[in-house]
Amino acid sequence: MKIHVLTLFPEIPRAFFENSIMAKAVERGIIDCSLINIRDFAFDKHKSCDDSTYGGGAGMLMLPEPLSAALESAGVTRKEGNPAGSGGEIKRRQRVVFPTPSGKPFSQAYAYELSREEELVFVCGRYEGIDQRIIDLYVDDEISIGDYVTSSGELAAAVIIDAVYRLIPGVISSESLDEESFSDGLLEYPQYTRPEIFRGEKVPEVLLSGHHEKIRLWRLRKRVEKTLRVRPDLVEASLKKGVYPEETAALIEEMKNGLD
Ligand code: ADE
Repeated sequence: MKIHVLTLFPEIPRAFFENSIMAKAVERGIIDCSLINIRDFAFDKHKSCDDSTYGGGAGMLMLPEPLSAALESAGVTRKEGNPAGSGGEIKRRQRVVFPTPSGKPFSQAYAYELSREEELVFVCGRYEGIDQRIIDLYVDDEISIGDYVTSSGELAAAVIIDAVYRLIPGVISSESLDEESFSDGLLEYPQYTRPEIFRGEKVPEVLLSGHHEKIRLWRLRKRVEKTLRVRPDLVEASLKKGVYPEETAALIEEMKNGLD
């Protein structure tokens, strides 16, 4: 997968791209990253990338011209029409993502969907955001990482990229993905490593028993218990979608009553 990040602060995503698992995926040719500094596409002598908003209001907005030039430098064409004269038949290869608090909520399912793309382009906003015409002309997905506002689109883009690239086959083992929180509507079970006793707290006996079936059941019960306690909304939604196997659904029923 090719990932482009358009940003006014390339040092933020650079630090992330250079981390070990991501760097390994780049080294192995699974991912190819390019950082595009939007300021390189500013057209006045002050290299301006922002201006005040029409109609008044607080804050500055990112100018459309440097952004569209930066997008086109990454090979992005407009959503409709494609390049002039192409008649619109050419399929757009890139999916353009704009992280914004007013976007669609990000989720593990959304991450899986994006992980199947050949090329992703992230537009990182600063100030009060970007000119709406950039969204209308180029952006495919406006994505929010949660109901809060960060001061940097770069951090939100890094969150999305991190959740996506690790799902690409070959980046990490498929067993690690199978039992992860959200992969099957349950949060993860608690895990322990050496020493057996830490600050007087002992590792649960069953994990030392070597009894695989008992361990599997204990882990499943812990997952159900935690999900019911911390994310009852996730349990309800997953029950509605019918994602739980019979054994899990029965446990939920039993443990739900225990909580009442
Ligand atoms: N930029 C600022 N806050 C954000 C959020 N919650 N999600 C995505 N992008 C953002």
